[in-house]
Amino acid sequence: MEENNNKREEWGTKFGLVLALAGNAIGLGNFLRFPVQAAGNGGGAFMIPYFISLILLGIPLMWVELAIGRFGGNRGHGSMPGMFYSMWGNRWSKYIGILGIFIPLVITVYYTYIESWTLAFSFFSLTGKYFGAESRESMGAFLRGFQGVESNGYFSSLTPAIIFFLITISINIYIISKGVSKGIERLANIAMPMLFVMAIAIAIRVLTFGAPDPSHPENNPIAGLGFIWNPDFSQLTNGTVWLAASGQIFFTLSLGMGAIATYASYMKKEDDVATTGIATAGANEFAEVILGGTIAIPAAVAFFGIAGAQEIAKGGAFNLGFQSLPVIFQKIPFGQFFGFIWFLLLFFAALTSSVAMAQPAMAFLQEEFRIPKERAAVIVGLILFICCIPVIFFLKHGFLDELDYWAGTFGLVFCALFEVIIFAWIFRMDRGWEELNRGATTAIPKIFFYIIKYITPMFLFIILVTWFYQNAIDVLFMKNIASSDKLYVWGARVMMAVIFIGLTFLVRKSWRMKKGL
Ligand code: PHE
Repeated sequence: MEENNNKREEWGTKFGLVLALAGNAIGLGNFLRFPVQAAGNGGGAFMIPYFISLILLGIPLMWVELAIGRFGGNRGHGSMPGMFYSMWGNRWSKYIGILGIFIPLVITVYYTYIESWTLAFSFFSLTGKYFGAESRESMGAFLRGFQGVESNGYFSSLTPAIIFFLITISINIYIISKGVSKGIERLANIAMPMLFVMAIAIAIRVLTFGAPDPSHPENNPIAGLGFIWNPDFSQLTNGTVWLAASGQIFFTLSLGMGAIATYASYMKKEDDVATTGIATAGANEFAEVILGGTIAIPAAVAFFGIAGAQEIAKGGAFNLGFQSLPVIFQKIPFGQFFGFIWFLLLFFAALTSSVAMAQPAMAFLQEEFRIPKERAAVIVGLILFICCIPVIFFLKHGFLDELDYWAGTFGLVFCALFEVIIFAWIFRMDRGWEELNRGATTAIPKIFFYIIKYITPMFLFIILVTWFYQNAIDVLFMKNIASSDKLYVWGARVMMAVIFIGLTFLVRKSWRMKKGL
């Protein structure tokens, strides 16, 4: 494939690259999704499949995506259609690559909306707006009022939610319009250190809770840590726990959707994929199991007991983050301040991830259609805005959940399987191995040659098949959807189909243009 002569953007510094990648990976997944998954799947029972998935799926795929991205980027392609095409050359490869724009785009649609809730709630903490809603029930009503799921004494309309959404989306558009080094890297340089400081401060605060209720001394943060960290080997044969653990690894490391590959496309030819991959995964795991694991669950255990924490986790990430923790903030000194920091932490974590999800579409428009980045940012922003309208208004009808299921859960594994097959079997593992180790200061242990070639694809295949039978068929036929909501769920599917078909059309068009050049 010919080298592209157009100057592509590059990361300013190596440290900036690692911070940006860490910002990409560290998100709501680390502080909300992980605690919910861990507690909901038995704590210590979850952690063993989790770490095995990290070694056999997470780290190998992180390397593979970085290598695919650097390879494509050096040939002028920052999005998956061009990357796959430059590795494979088959005309179908660029259409398979659409997954690498489609998935992140669909996830960004609802992720930015949730991101805007975190901004809103940090503001509400500061102003003390939810103070007085002291039980989980009344905090639930506060949240549902804000989301427009019900109209109540706290909120009578969706206006505040829409205002915070508009602010959030404008911030996102502004950052991506500035480009890779002046926008994303600069954001990471500021937001990531702040994120770590805030997370460490809150984790320390949680660890010093003691036993808030003297009549229940067993309810304390250390018991919460024990719940997560005491391994429970009896659950190792439980398929559901494996699916949850491997799904979490994908989501938290931003794998299987091209967001990592797009960031890697701005690396130089000799930049070190091996060390960068380990640094990114390491930073993410620190933020996830150490910081994320020390905040939400131990706090919930201290105030509500282990059984209470598990019950909260069953109610999902929003129940934990937006309902239960605010109840705790109302019980501790300087609660308004800690509430503010908690939600601001979530906002920074989400922002550095949402710009990463929007970037594949940005790169696609800029490179394959030569659209300037400011204009591309406005186009992407408009698409997100329009697609998010039904998410906002049909929240209670399962619109968001449907997008999250197909793009944010199933899609990731599906796309990752293509990535690893194209890399290890079509591009071929011996060339792939050379790519992975080019510029590496420390060579990747040879055992990963075999893991990437055999174990990772097999593992992915098994997950996909199991998932399909255990779960996806029911979702496909809307087994658990109330009949009054079916129309909305169909709406979500039609929206996804329109996005996918639109992208197919664009990919076709851009390649025809290229031939004419
Ligand atoms: N990894 C991010 C998180 O933990 C989510 C994400 C997924 C970000 C995909 C970018 C791409 O929240």
